[in-house]
Amino acid sequence: MPNPTPAPTPLEPFPRLGEALGLELWVKRDDLYPSSGGGNKARKMLRILEEAERAGSNALVTTGGIGSNHGRVTALEAARRGWSCWLILHGDADSLRRPMGNLLLMILSGARIEVVEPSAVGPAMEAAVAALRAQGRRPFEIPGGGHCLAGAQSYQAAGAELDRQCREMDFDPEVVLLASGTGTTQAGIVAGLADAGRAARVIGISIARRNPRGRAIVLEAYRELTDVQGRSEREASEARRIEFRDEWVGEGYGKASTAVHAAVRRAAAHGLVLDPTYTGKAVHALEEMRREGEIARGTRTLFWHTGGLLNLMAEDVIATGGDRR
Ligand SMILES: Cc1ncc(COP(=O)(O)O)c(C=O)c1O
Repeated sequence: MPNPTPAPTPLEPFPRLGEALGLELWVKRDDLYPSSGGGNKARKMLRILEEAERAGSNALVTTGGIGSNHGRVTALEAARRGWSCWLILHGDADSLRRPMGNLLLMILSGARIEVVEPSAVGPAMEAAVAALRAQGRRPFEIPGGGHCLAGAQSYQAAGAELDRQCREMDFDPEVVLLASGTGTTQAGIVAGLADAGRAARVIGISIARRNPRGRAIVLEAYRELTDVQGRSEREASEARRIEFRDEWVGEGYGKASTAVHAAVRRAAAHGLVLDPTYTGKAVHALEEMRREGEIARGTRTLFWHTGGLLNLMAEDVIATGGDRR
């Protein structure tokens, strides 16, 4: 099945929220990416599936947390094609009793789901691939989070997409900020903006990993991109632009503080829907960086919205808030 090339996601000003934050705020709406529920994982997946299709695959195997956006997108794209899908998930297996959000969609898609300890993911993936082969299927293994070259390339192309939109709409961001996990999205954006000659500071807000490892992984993904392009001579200066910030990780992946919940509520009250696992952490960081003066008042800021609505639908972000705002 040929993959249609989706239209660019919108680039939109958010003046009311911007005023509340003290910024000129625009949002790149990858939460509205038009396939399989949207988000950055959907954008990455379409590029990854081009590879799977070239390889003649008819089954997908991947891994992620039990509420993984990547797992949801993989499951739905496989179902759309009539392919088998085997998901090796880690996290609280009790969620299977009352599935919500992404997990609900993984189940509805018909994917086979196995919940294992994080340390058992590798062997379980290998076993799934072997079992599918034994059934006569041609499985394609996707790294967790879509963390691979094709995933990064999809965001390099998205950087070019943003550049075109910025020129059309006469917006020149000084800061681009996003939630960063495996870092492929960030690496691609840094490369895409560098290709376009844009000097914006790109800030990845870690949702799980700590430095120095977190930044090193983004850098590795970035180097893989530049190696493919054979432009390592530019690499040294651009690599300095990889800014991966771990101060807002809190208690770790999927664990949102009351401050993150409050940021989610505040943004929603200004018409921007965030989630507690990814984008809420990022905007909470943006609020703090602005408040503490690290980002100056009036800075032309692009928030790259990477999705996560289904994570919001699986978590109570109201219980922690006194006045619900
Ligand atoms: C909504 C959302 N935002 C951001 C990220 C981070 O993307 P990456 O893994 O490419 O850094 C993820 C990853 O799961 C995500 O689901």
